[in-house]
Parts: sequence; C-alpha cells; structure tokens
Amino acid sequence: MVKVSAPGKLMLMGEHAVVYGYPCLVTAIDRRLMVEADKTDGNGLVIVAPQSKDTTIVEAAVAMAKDRLGIPRTGLRISTQSPFTGVYGFGSSSATAAAVVSALSALFRIKADTKAIFTTAYEAVSSVQPMNSGFDVAAGVFGATLSYAKGGTVLEVLEQGNTLPLVVGYTRVKANTTQIVAEIAEKKKRFPEKVGRIFSAIEKLVGEGKASLQKKDWQRLGTLFGFNQDYLRDLGVSSEELENLIAAARNAGAFGAKLSGAGRGDCMIALVPDDKRTAVETAITQAGGEVVRVLPHAQGARLETTDDQSELFVVVDKNDSVIGYRTRGECHSDRNRIHRAAGVIIFDSSGRVLLQKRSLTKDISPGVWGISTAGHVRKGKSYEETARREMQEELGISVPITFWKKHLYEGERESEFDAAFRADYDGPFTVDPIEVDRVEFFDPRELKFKIASGEVILDPCAKRTLEVVGIL
Ligand code: MEV
Repeated sequence: MVKVSAPGKLMLMGEHAVVYGYPCLVTAIDRRLMVEADKTDGNGLVIVAPQSKDTTIVEAAVAMAKDRLGIPRTGLRISTQSPFTGVYGFGSSSATAAAVVSALSALFRIKADTKAIFTTAYEAVSSVQPMNSGFDVAAGVFGATLSYAKGGTVLEVLEQGNTLPLVVGYTRVKANTTQIVAEIAEKKKRFPEKVGRIFSAIEKLVGEGKASLQKKDWQRLGTLFGFNQDYLRDLGVSSEELENLIAAARNAGAFGAKLSGAGRGDCMIALVPDDKRTAVETAITQAGGEVVRVLPHAQGARLETTDDQSELFVVVDKNDSVIGYRTRGECHSDRNRIHRAAGVIIFDSSGRVLLQKRSLTKDISPGVWGISTAGHVRKGKSYEETARREMQEELGISVPITFWKKHLYEGERESEFDAAFRADYDGPFTVDPIEVDRVEFFDPRELKFKIASGEVILDPCAKRTLEVVGIL
C-alpha cells in the first residue's frame, strides 16, 4: 500500500489566456488531497471516493498510468480523501490525477521523474476535459509557485517561500469551468482580434507579475492583479459576487484583488499588507463571502507513508505466546500490544555489518539507521518467513540465514519481540527505494564512534538488537 498526497492550487494571474498557450502564475496551496493505492487479486479496479460522485478522473489516471508508465495488469484498489472536493475551485480533479499517477508509480516501484508524472496526469485530465491548460496538474505535481505555460512548455519554480500575503474569499457560487472555457472559445472564434488583444495584454501583465513576485513587491503585484481583473471583466468572466468581494477587499486596504480561475464564481484573491489582513477578511465576510485560510507555495505530490496501517500483526504475551491479531495502527499506538518482528543482520567477508538508512516515509523512525533489514510478522507467518520476505523485498536478495537471538524490546511507542537472524553476503543489493534510502557496510568499531559522534543515528529498536547480539 502507498499513500500519496497532492496539493490544490490557486491561479494567481493569466487564467483563460493560458488555455491558448500564454503563460500564467500559479501557486500550490496547503489543502492536500490523499490517495491510497494497493494491489488486489484479479484485474478489477475498486475506487473508494466518499467525497466524490464522479470517479471518472481516477479511472482515467489509472488507464493513462498503465499505458504510459508500464504498470502491470493487476487488480487495484484506489481510495481518495479530499478536504476540498469540488467546492472553492482548488482543482480537486487535477490533484487527484497527480496523486493517483504518483501513487501508482510508487506502488510499482517505477522510476518516473516528476516531468513524466506530470505528462501522464495531464494526459489523463485532458482525456476527460480536453480544453484545459494543465496548470493545476503542474501545481499538483511540482507544488511551489510556478510560472507555467500549457503542457509544461514553460515551467519555472519561482523561489519565494510561502510569504505571498494572500487572502482568499469564496463567493459561495460554484463556477462551471467547462462551460465558461467553451464560451471563451466561442468568443475567440467570433471576435478573434478583441480576444487576442486581451490575451496579449494579460501576457504582458503576467511577465511583470512574475518579476514583482520574485522581488516580493506585493504592492506592485496587487496593482497588476487589478489590471488583470479589468481584462477578465472585459472578457465577460467576472460576476456580481466576485466584484462585490473584490471591491470589499480593496476598500479595506488590499494592494489589489482579482478573481482566480475560470470566473463567474469560486474564489477571489487579494494581496494585503499584514496590518490590513483582519480588516480585509472582515470586509469579505460582510460582503457575503467566506474567507478560506490557505498557505501558498505548498509542496507538490509526495509519498506520505508506505506502511499499511490496517495490516494484521501477531499480538503475543510476555512469553511470546499468541493472544490475538491487531492492525499495525493499533499495535503502534499502544505499547501494551506486544507484537512480533524479525530482521537479518548481514556481514560481509571482512566482518563489516550492513545497516540500512530507513526511508523518510516510514511511520516509525523515518530517515534514521536500522539493522540490515527488518519487518513485522504478519498473521499466519513465522519469524523466519518474515526475515526472508523482508530481505527479498527491501534488499532484493535471497541468501541463507540462521537464527541468532530473540529479545523483548519495550520502546516509547511500541513493544515487540525481535528475532534476529544472521547472514553472510558481500552484495550487490537492489534496495527498495520506497522503504530504504540506502545501505552501507560499517566496521563495528568505527560504528561505535560514529554513533557516539552523532554521525550515525540509530533507530532505538535497532540499537537494542545490535546490543543484544553483541555488536554494540
Ligand atoms: C480554470 O481554473 C483556469 C482556466 O484558465 C482553465 C485552464 O487553465 O485550464 C480558465
């Protein structure tokens, strides 16, 4: 099982024009959509999306990932959790596509870079909604604040940290993006010169906006927001609700404000001096809007955890006799639930011991060093089977192992019986990049110094195992 999250987005400048190849500015926000993906028996696709009636985008993302990333034919279960589905226009479909494609590439250990994830997710979104620029998919995959042009032809991360002083007001009206984008396409056909002039003017504003953003010149950027809004009004995509909230924000002291996205509803955004934030928020609320507190410049799609919290562990008493089965989540939140774990300590021919640096997505001790390989004993499995399985899955090897020692480890968060096995092997290893950051052989004497100096930080459970077997 893998769990991936992707951020929503807010268009800062350049909406509509971006559909026709002009650049835009977009920021990823700290409202994250979650996707869990797991393999199942058979060939079916089970989608669990409690907050969404429409699962088309998940189906499209799975189909595109199978086609473009070479994901094997197997049954899949995908579940989504969204704090913002549909409402606000934060781009839930695109964040879903970004998260599903990232999750599948992680689940099947496919080495796809962010550009390949973006292209695949963008194609998936385009197969459902052909007239879109993909700016929201880019925000979902890459995160940060971006200068973007359709299809990712321009893609520049604007390194400004999350300092953009944004206030966001929701009009309480849901925008129909597909319909508005189609209307603009029609308008462009009928009045090509006028619409072309508007888009060229917006392009210039976006260029200036990018420079102001990089200089953190919020006053100027606010003024540019206002000019961009004038052109969007000319294009016919503003609305009374949007204009009311924009006027309220400006009158309360905002540097500038504009609609964000397709228009006719969803959200408006304002840039505000720090000392005017409360006044602007109050004014938006009094004008009938809902203030939505978000932080810009959020991180792009990321792996949250690879550990399945519903996996069943073997629970034992202090004599290691089985007394039941509980989930990973239950065992890791109650130190009275003693469960079983097994690991292997591998030595090379010069007596050095192999340690692994745990991946940053592990639920316990992420990013610190552990023994060569270790894992929990699942229902119906023995210590030895578990040790072999972990060695195969995490290090890509199958070599003889012999039982060494078993002890009860009682930690701060969990208690477990740890069975340590021993193996002799010089490598090579094919480490699982999802579970393991890297592996390295250490001379046991040097290891002691490296631990003392803080150069190597050991997971407390691994430290205890190394002490019990006499390495430390
Ligand atoms: C919608 O949020 C923004 C538009 O520019 C459409 C798009 O870029 O796909 C109107």
